[in-house]
Amino acid sequence: MQFSTKALSIEKVRTGCVIVPVLAGREFTAGGALLDTAHGGALKAALKSGDLEEKAGATLLVRTDKPAKRALLVSLGERREVSEKSFRDAVAGAIQAAGALASDDAVSLLGEVAVAGRDESWTLATQVLVGRAQAYRFERLKSKPSERALRPTRVVLCVAKAHTTRSHTTVQRAVAIANGVDLARDLGNLPGNVCTPTYLAHSAGELATEFNLRLQVLEEKQMAALRMGALLSVSKGSEQPPKLIVLHYQGAAAGKAPVVLAGKGVTFDSGGISIKPAAEMDEMKFDMCGAASVLGTIRAIAEMKLKINVIGLIPTCENLPSGRASKPGDIVTTMSGQTVEILNTDAEGRLILCDALTYAERFKPAAVIDIATLTGACVIALGHHRSGLFSPNDALATELLEAGRESADPCWRMPLDDPYQEQIKSPFADMANVGGRAGGAVTAACFLQRFTKAYDWAHLDIAGTAWKSGKDKGATGRPVPLLASFLISRATRG
Ligand code: BES
Ligand code: MN
Ligand code: ZN
Repeated sequence: MQFSTKALSIEKVRTGCVIVPVLAGREFTAGGALLDTAHGGALKAALKSGDLEEKAGATLLVRTDKPAKRALLVSLGERREVSEKSFRDAVAGAIQAAGALASDDAVSLLGEVAVAGRDESWTLATQVLVGRAQAYRFERLKSKPSERALRPTRVVLCVAKAHTTRSHTTVQRAVAIANGVDLARDLGNLPGNVCTPTYLAHSAGELATEFNLRLQVLEEKQMAALRMGALLSVSKGSEQPPKLIVLHYQGAAAGKAPVVLAGKGVTFDSGGISIKPAAEMDEMKFDMCGAASVLGTIRAIAEMKLKINVIGLIPTCENLPSGRASKPGDIVTTMSGQTVEILNTDAEGRLILCDALTYAERFKPAAVIDIATLTGACVIALGHHRSGLFSPNDALATELLEAGRESADPCWRMPLDDPYQEQIKSPFADMANVGGRAGGAVTAACFLQRFTKAYDWAHLDIAGTAWKSGKDKGATGRPVPLLASFLISRATRG
């Protein structure tokens, strides 16, 4: 689905389908009113029939013949003030209905809608991002992918003449983010027998080639030489070799401190010897969505040529039981020198991340953000709408909260104060890898915090937001929009 922007005389536009917003009280925007007049009042008449529901996203198709073949009326809800949610619902409804038509192209007037607290740039970017998310399919592993091409293939977003250059940039950036989201979704949706640590390293290689990025992939031997005992303790039950992917995006001066994005890349989490129950265990193929979001974000910022330095750091392995696997009670030494008693082999994410976080010190980073499907407890705490945000740094936390709000990919700050550290004390090692059921998302973050003293750090627990279960099962691509928005602000701030 391709997007472009144009300032058009809508009453003259030849297209298979014009998407026409309908505001509360059956009102049109300026462009909609012109179109209605050009078609002899056919649109008003259709509305009078009462066939268009008032609910945001409801649609009604009107045949208009010439110059536009059809008008697709879409409701923005019953309230005068259009909320962000109503607008997003309207875009999704319109793209879905347009997709069922025989028309290859569409012209959208949705950019004319005034959304409370938002400008035209926002309505344009939102059309791209919601439209692309609505059109996303993952069918590459079906023997017969659905025959119908994805429609509409081309969407023209109408803009006011004065704004064409700025609008063009806005849409380009939104397309870059949508491409990053799609990459993260594709990688997440791939099954564990395809998307192995080696496959993730190959995908990083493809990105590196396409955007001319520097890539290092550390192998097991190098990790051993670095004394990454925690990371290796997770991977050793598996036949698949672990990888530590280091992907460098340089968009600013070489001396400028980078932002490090560290993503958990467990390509399948069975729990190891502390094995998980069978029900829904398939969903643990999504346990590399943090890694996928790092690759997706780097894809997005590379495509927009953002003026910032970013390093993607991905520890990736499988967590499986075997005769060689770690056992509850085992004690390992991390790269930092701190020792960990592994009380539960299913708390593996923190074990691979802690060594990556120590490795991150060498980059003298401006900030490190780790992204991980870390705890079921975070899903219990926050559900599926907001990712968990943990950081001892108020300024960094505020930036990430704001980026989440801006990109409709929200997070929520969780506590991280010292009393929780008590729960991960161990009688035999410097710490245990679990702290009991109470506050499980917090104690996991507390564990990571012990490896992040050398820089500004934040942790995003995306266990509830990275994928959906049930009939719409699949990766969401979150938090690529949040991270992209965060990096855009940092790049602009300089
Ligand atoms: N990958 C899981 C977290 C997870 C579980 C995410 C369910 C989404 C849905 C993680 O490795 C894990 O197993 N965590 C354990 C930690 C526990 C053993 C302290 C959990 O959350 O149960
Ligand atoms: Mn686990
Ligand atoms: Zn896991």
